[in-house]
Amino acid sequence: MKDKQPELFETEKLNPLFNTNLTAGGIFVWDKETEEKVLFMREGGATYERIANDIGITSTSVKHKVRRLQQNKNMERYKHGKEKQAQAQNYIFGVNNKILEMNVGFGGMTKFYCKFGQVECYDIAKDRVQFVNNLLLEGVTCINADSEHKIYSLISNKCIYDVVDIDPYGMPSRYFPMVFGLINNGILFVTLPMIGVAQINKITIRHLAAFWDVELNDSNVYIEKVFDRMKDYAFMYKREIVLLDCLRIDRVFRLCIKVQKKSCCDIVGLTVNRPGVIATQCEPVQREANESETA
Ligand SMILES: C[S@@+](CC[C@H](N)C(=O)[O-])C[C@H]1O[C@@H](n2cnc3c(N)ncnc32)[C@H](O)[C@@H]1O
Repeated sequence: MKDKQPELFETEKLNPLFNTNLTAGGIFVWDKETEEKVLFMREGGATYERIANDIGITSTSVKHKVRRLQQNKNMERYKHGKEKQAQAQNYIFGVNNKILEMNVGFGGMTKFYCKFGQVECYDIAKDRVQFVNNLLLEGVTCINADSEHKIYSLISNKCIYDVVDIDPYGMPSRYFPMVFGLINNGILFVTLPMIGVAQINKITIRHLAAFWDVELNDSNVYIEKVFDRMKDYAFMYKREIVLLDCLRIDRVFRLCIKVQKKSCCDIVGLTVNRPGVIATQCEPVQREANESETA
């Protein structure tokens, strides 16, 4: 039965000239019907290439669309709840924590976090916020907001948390460096998709380079490079960070990071001996005298 299903679409093969999904400018536009058809074909066993041929777009576009549609359907395999909780329980203790979730989804982690204290959480999707509020979890405040914007008001209101969780579908870039200003001494959990999870194009390439100094062939040093950049982002808020754990789950990495507020002297290893005189613990940086100094 399963391998018969794709046949259903053989006769429906769209002629590009009459493809109703194409705008006058030849751009493919998704509609509900095509989305359902693609999901149906995929779940019926059709390959991405087969579906792509059928609707007249590339198989990469189909792959990304299918993934998004399945995520929206709240499929368990995209939530990685068990793995994320197993990691988190090694690093969160007590019941008086202040916890912030930037991307609550359907509350997979919220049910776990609320055992450890008060949880404040956000999601851009109204239905998900409604879903979490309907769970009536004790100590949980769930609000519909774009947390990439909300983070600025949390910073300006000097909000501080023991645990912050950033778990969007794509790169978490737009929460940095601000997220470090929200933690004095605590833990940051952040989900990082592997290179290529988002469709590779000129924008994603430029994005990886601009935020993380990462290039497409950096897969082997991806985490190192991203964490190096995070150290700089943390320094901007006078925080020192240590990577406690990096868990690979399916096509994402889940980083667990210890964040501590420190003086800049401590972070870079400078010691102040007496007022007005600074001595370095390490070798002083050699600087060439400029013309006015030698004159
Ligand atoms: C991977 S799911 C979150 C899963 C959830 N943390 C869990 O463990 O069950 C990603 C969520 O991020 C939300 N999201 C994406 N961009 C957002 C934004 N700018 N502000 C708030 N939420 C956002 C999506 O609506 C989606 O619910």
